[in-house]
Amino acid sequence: MCGIVGYVGKSEGVETLLEALSRLEYRGYDSAGVAVLNNKGLDVRKRAGKLQGLIDDLRRHPLHGTLSIGHTRWATHGEPSELNAHPHTDCTGQLAVVHNGIIENYSELKDQLLAKGHRFRSQTDTEVIVHLIEELAKHQPLERAFISALKQLRGSYALCLLSSAEPQRLFGARHGSPLIVGIGKAEAFFASDVPAILGRASSVIYLNDGDVVDLTSSGPRVMDLSGKRLRRSPKEIHWDLAAARKEGCAHFMLKEIHEQPLAIAQTLANRLSVAKHSISFDRRTQSFLNKISQQERLIIIACGTAYHAGLVGEYMLEEVAHLPVDVDLASEFRYRGPLLDARTTVVAITQSGETADTLAGIRMAKEQGASVLAICNVMGSSIAREADAVLYTHAGPEIAVASTKAYTAQLTALALISLYLAHKRQRLLGTRFRQMIEGLSALPKLIEKTLASEAEIKMVAAKYVKCRNFYFLGRRYNYPSALEGALKLKEICPLIHAEGYAAGEMKHGPISLIRMGWPVVFLAPQASVYDKIISNIEEVRARKGECIVIASEGNNTIARYAESLITIPKTEEFFSPIVAAIPLQLFAYHIAQANQCDIDQPPNLAKSVTVE
Ligand code: G6P
Repeated sequence: MCGIVGYVGKSEGVETLLEALSRLEYRGYDSAGVAVLNNKGLDVRKRAGKLQGLIDDLRRHPLHGTLSIGHTRWATHGEPSELNAHPHTDCTGQLAVVHNGIIENYSELKDQLLAKGHRFRSQTDTEVIVHLIEELAKHQPLERAFISALKQLRGSYALCLLSSAEPQRLFGARHGSPLIVGIGKAEAFFASDVPAILGRASSVIYLNDGDVVDLTSSGPRVMDLSGKRLRRSPKEIHWDLAAARKEGCAHFMLKEIHEQPLAIAQTLANRLSVAKHSISFDRRTQSFLNKISQQERLIIIACGTAYHAGLVGEYMLEEVAHLPVDVDLASEFRYRGPLLDARTTVVAITQSGETADTLAGIRMAKEQGASVLAICNVMGSSIAREADAVLYTHAGPEIAVASTKAYTAQLTALALISLYLAHKRQRLLGTRFRQMIEGLSALPKLIEKTLASEAEIKMVAAKYVKCRNFYFLGRRYNYPSALEGALKLKEICPLIHAEGYAAGEMKHGPISLIRMGWPVVFLAPQASVYDKIISNIEEVRARKGECIVIASEGNNTIARYAESLITIPKTEEFFSPIVAAIPLQLFAYHIAQANQCDIDQPPNLAKSVTVE
């Protein structure tokens, strides 16, 4: 949510910002703006709606200058409009601010500033920041005024400040919302996320909460809120620019769906050895997992798609490692008053590592003595840094709002952990363990094979393009698959209502709605619950429901139960949600594409939900 960029260097600022902002579009936004310093002073341009509107406007009436800040806004306080879009300026028009987060005491600060004669133009919480800095800078240098203002803010922020009185520098600060510093050749950046600065910055500093930065083209000076200098070592950027581009694909989502064999292989790399039939991790993670193996209880917390991965993780860990697992939505976990202590391990699953509820959940868990393992995709993200140990999924940057490769990489990471713990706890040994290791190593090829049936899946999807309601039903390992299949469809196709359900629960509600034109997608791969699923399919057919069945290849009898059949390669039930994810993603994608939906940036959704 909200994307921030700031630029200090010799290039045209607006050009640089627009490219960076377009790489942050995936975060979700509803307006955009830039501010640039030139010999006339500060020039600001903002537009409601898509970034393209701002780009077109700036092509027609360009703004020149180098020092600049830009923003994509996801509305929290005040409607998505040009007036409420960032950057916000002070009364004199000499200061401009972009902000991600929520200032909780904004109305109290606003009253004080109004009383002092400040004029406000927007309904945002952000505007108070810039007026507060203006007020404080009347009596002290800008840097000190900036820090004094930060000390008065309650809530969360990633901030960037541009002042016409300081033409060589930007100021930035982070507290609870992500902000990084990118360092390039005689230029430097602020950004919300690494994709924004790919190709321009060679290294990155992941700021901590409480960090304040004075940024010039030669790099950052990082300090704390008392002005004390802090050491922050830059990390080399490993992601390449191609990862932030569609590379000929119609959408990032499609590109990322097809990247899954590679993403899974990267999750397994250096951890799985088929030759030695072993699983290992980096020293810190492995010793953490060894500790977990003695643990009494695990709680998995996550949001959205990552929560569905967590549900699969529960089946995996309980079945093979015999560890009791609870799975909680992070937004519920943090408020339900869970009973935690040193015997509990909390496993946070998150692609971005910045989801506000998951972050708050791990903080609460640590305060209460639990230890925290993160399964995370983004290096240096807040959750990765605050957890006691991290298992990176290494899926590469995921740009489409709807998660695909990060999900199957999370499932693969959970499979690795489950099998490792199962072996450590002596629950899975000998031939069976070796078979599972081989099953895990076969996944990238199996996913490649599944992707090869895209044309067949697209044909099935074409039959249901006009339908507006879908059920997705599954059991056991593929109950979470049903939830995820429904989520994919409703995320990227807002015209459609889709609901995932445990097939066994169908008789407790959904069955009353079954009728023609309301298709039911059944997850029916070869599994211990296969016969039960067949009974559910029969029940739907008896009520004239249309069944789209996802089944294992080689199953010659199932076709007679299905209006449409999609086959997936045979695999152990344990791995089946990983394989089943592919047709569900492609089915949603092709329905959304035929309905001309904005697949990569669905309305109102954000990739990184940094406010609760
Ligand atoms: C948003 C995204 C989803 C994601 C969820 C959790 O809703 O659109 O794709 O699953 O947040 O995000 P996380 O980064 O914590 O996995």
